[in-house]
This record gives sequence, C-alpha cells and structure tokens, in this order.
Amino acid sequence: MKKKFLMINLVIVFFCCLLTFGQNTRTENTLVINADSGKNIISRHIYGQFSEHLGHCIYGGFWVGENSPIPNVRGIRKDVVEALKHIQIPNLRWPGGCFADEYHWKDGIGPRDKRPTMVNTNWGGVTEDNSFGTHEFLDLCQQLGTEPYITGNVGSGTVQEMAEWVEYLNSDGQNPMSDLRKANGREQPWNVKFWGVGNESWGCGGNMRPEFYADQFRRYATYCRNYNGNSLFKIASGPSSDDYNWTEVMMKNVGTRMNGLSLHYYTVKGWSGSKGSATKFNEDEYFDIIKRCLVIDELITKHSAIMDKYDPAKRVGLIVDEWGTWFDVEPGTNPGFLFQQNTLRDALVAGITLNILNSHCDRVKMANIAQVINVLQSMILTDGPKMCLTPTYHVFDLYKVHQDATLLPLTLQTENYELNGQKIPAITASASKDKEGVIHISLTNADPHRDLTVNCKINGTDFSEISGRILTAQELNAHNTFDKPQTIQPADFKGAKIAHHQVVVKLPAKSIVVLTLK
Ligand code: AHR
Repeated sequence: MKKKFLMINLVIVFFCCLLTFGQNTRTENTLVINADSGKNIISRHIYGQFSEHLGHCIYGGFWVGENSPIPNVRGIRKDVVEALKHIQIPNLRWPGGCFADEYHWKDGIGPRDKRPTMVNTNWGGVTEDNSFGTHEFLDLCQQLGTEPYITGNVGSGTVQEMAEWVEYLNSDGQNPMSDLRKANGREQPWNVKFWGVGNESWGCGGNMRPEFYADQFRRYATYCRNYNGNSLFKIASGPSSDDYNWTEVMMKNVGTRMNGLSLHYYTVKGWSGSKGSATKFNEDEYFDIIKRCLVIDELITKHSAIMDKYDPAKRVGLIVDEWGTWFDVEPGTNPGFLFQQNTLRDALVAGITLNILNSHCDRVKMANIAQVINVLQSMILTDGPKMCLTPTYHVFDLYKVHQDATLLPLTLQTENYELNGQKIPAITASASKDKEGVIHISLTNADPHRDLTVNCKINGTDFSEISGRILTAQELNAHNTFDKPQTIQPADFKGAKIAHHQVVVKLPAKSIVVLTLK
C-alpha cells in the first residue's frame, strides 16, 4: 500500500515537472535569414492572376462594352484596370478553367454584332454573346501591362483549331490566319508566350487518363508553332491536389517536351455539401481553413520530388495556375457564378500561400490565384458601377516587392497555433533581396489570439533602417463592402525594431506584415 502511494506521488511529481518544464521552455520564434546566399529568383509570374468566363469575372468585371455609362477604354473598365496596375499583375490567364475546353476562339473574333452566342454550360448555363474575345483580351492585357496566358481547347477542340489560334495570334507571315487577324484590324502579331494545352484534362477538360492525355499533349503541342522567334512556353494540364500518379505519368511520357506542368489546389472544406460561408465562420472553421492552406507546401514538395527524378535540371516549371479559397456563394447569388466575399481569413491564406510559393521558386515558375474579379478568392468585387478592393488584393499589393527578387534562404522556428488538441505553425515567412539590394521580409501570424515576438537574425548584410506595413483587423471576418470599402486595408507598422544587429518583430495576432530593410 505504502509502495503504491509512493508510486502515485512520483507520477504526480513527474507530471508537475513536465508541466513546469514545458512552460519555461516555451518555443521562441526565431528567424535566421542568410542575405548573402540567395541563388533563386522569385519569378514575378508567381503573382499571376486568373480570369475565366465565369459569373461576373469577364462580363461586368472587366468588360462593360463601349457604350456603357461605366467609364471604360474600348469597353474595358477603367477603375478595374487602374486598381490592378497598382499591384503589378505579371500575367493573366484566360479564358478558363473549365470554360477553355468548350471555347471556340473563332466565335469571338470579327465584328461584335456578327459573333454567334454561346451557352456557358460549365458556369450557370448563361448565354454569352462572345463580345469579349481574343482582341478584347489582348487589349486588356496591354492596358494592364501584363503578359497574356491563354489556354487552348483540348477537350472539345481540334488540333487544327488550336494550331490556327496560335498562328492567328503570333504569325507575321502571309497565311490565312495572319491575314484574318489583319482583316480584323490588328496588323502586328501579339507574340503570346504562355500557352496552356488544355485545362484539368482529368476532369472538366475531357475526363482523360494521364496516359491518354500525355499523348494528346504531345500531339497538340507539336502543331503549336513558334513564330517570329517567339518561343511558346507550353503548359500541360497537371495534377489536382495530391494526384502524384498524374505527375509521374506526365514526367515520364512528356518530360521536357513541356515547359510547365500545372497544379491545381484549392483551400476548401470538401467538394461535397456546404463549403462554409466566406464571412460567417467560427474558430474551428478558421483553423481548418488555415490548416488546409498549409498543405500546399507538402503537395509542392512531393510533386517537385517526382519532377526532380525526371528533370533534375528543373527545366519544367511547376505552374500552380489555380489556387485560393473556395466557399459557398453569397446568399441570393447564382450558385454557378462562384461569387464569394473575402475577409482577413482569405488575406492570411494569400499571405501564407505566397510565402510557400516563394520558398519553392526553384521549381514553381508561375502561379495564378483564382480568380481576379468577382469569382472565388478575388482581388476585386464589382456591383454595376461600384467596385471594392478585397483584403487579398492588399496582400498582393504588400507582397509585390518579392516579384523578380532573389529568394533569401531562411530558417524559421515558430510557436504553434493550437486548437482542440490540434497544432499548426503560427508563423510563416519569406525573405528576398531586390535589385537595389533592399531586403523584404513577409510574415504571417495565423494565431487569432496571441501577438508573437519574432527574433530575426540577418546574416551577411548591414542595415540601419527598417519600415513596415501591416494588414490586420479586429475580427477575422472583417471585409470590405461597396458601402464600406475601407474597413480593412494596410497601415504603417511600427512593431519592428533593430537591436544589436538583429530585428525584433512584435507580430500582432492574425496579421500579415511586410518589412523593408535598408
Ligand atoms: O476556378 C473555377 C474552376 O475550378 C475552374 O474553371 C476549373 O479549372 C477548376 O475546377
């Protein structure tokens, strides 16, 4: 009996010690950045956008037509172009998405009043008048100062149709498509570079098996010719999420015949049933979304490992050309239009994802958030003549400093954000050095309750000035509306100090911070 009593006491003492030890050794948040050993460039194309004929992305979002009372240049909204120019979007993907594999480009050229209508079977079954087609899209890209990324139709189109589209776009010679383009008012070729050969060929793009699609890619891509010294960057339809077999088969059978292999990953609760509200969520749902968003790191790592096996020189880029949050549509809106609000939670997803994409810039050469206006995790929402910028827009604004900068290797030790016995890392970070030698550090703190102190050691450089910008709000579901468009927007950040050649950052709960060091 005495022995048993002693044992119980010992166990209690042991657990007390463990608890005390645990409290005293609470993990520190430390960030070590090696400013003199960066070797990979964060392609600006990682900050790309996606625009599909879906809901009010094109019609109402970009395109209002020349006769609209909404201020426009040749039918394209001025306010939207101005806002997007500010965040320096490097490329714009079009016309889909699922829409791309049912789009026949010749229906969208020539006099607008003579263009046939079409039914958008993928998205709401609405009739479109094809008033926004090839010329309008390339005019939009020119107004934005961005590179076009066009996806051709493999699912329901022919090899000839795709080959002729490339010829129409890029050939300067004397041939039927070049002549047709000139007859439609465009003398010079556009020299489009980024070319998608189908979209989601495992699903809405034809429900193909990877072996079949690999052969289709080889066949279609053969006839997508290079004109005037403009080499197409051909992007194959790649895996969804963790479909590693798709990557394996594509790398084995197509390999370096493609320049890029796309990856689609959405941060979504699940594909059946409700996806949850974009604005009304509890902490469990918030935690779940952040946890799912972090998964993209593992996905890229594993797909990259397969690619490394076949392409150690990393000639084929991983192109994450659809990513972002996917929630239920806003009540009362067309379920086929995928119109969702955008909160501080989305901003955190954007900040975390961009930090992760930067960290894989040796393999990830481009990414496109879905989608730019009025669809899923948008930059911009419009309602007739009204427009508002989302929290995600502000993240792209803050992070634009990373575009084409050199990634700086870093080691991050972070506390966890814990809920109901589950843990995820609270902090993510990314650092880069731009062409002027200025260092930028982007940090996210997903913990909604705790401000965290991060001690940053920056090796291999001198600095004496620090400034910062922050995006945060009182509530996780803070969002901008047409009536209150400035509820959440970036502000100056004063929580970073230089002390003994180190930087100490007091990173507020649920925030995104970008620091500039000179
Ligand atoms: O972005 C919405 C849709 O999601 C795209 O059309 C498709 O490619 C993906 O399934």
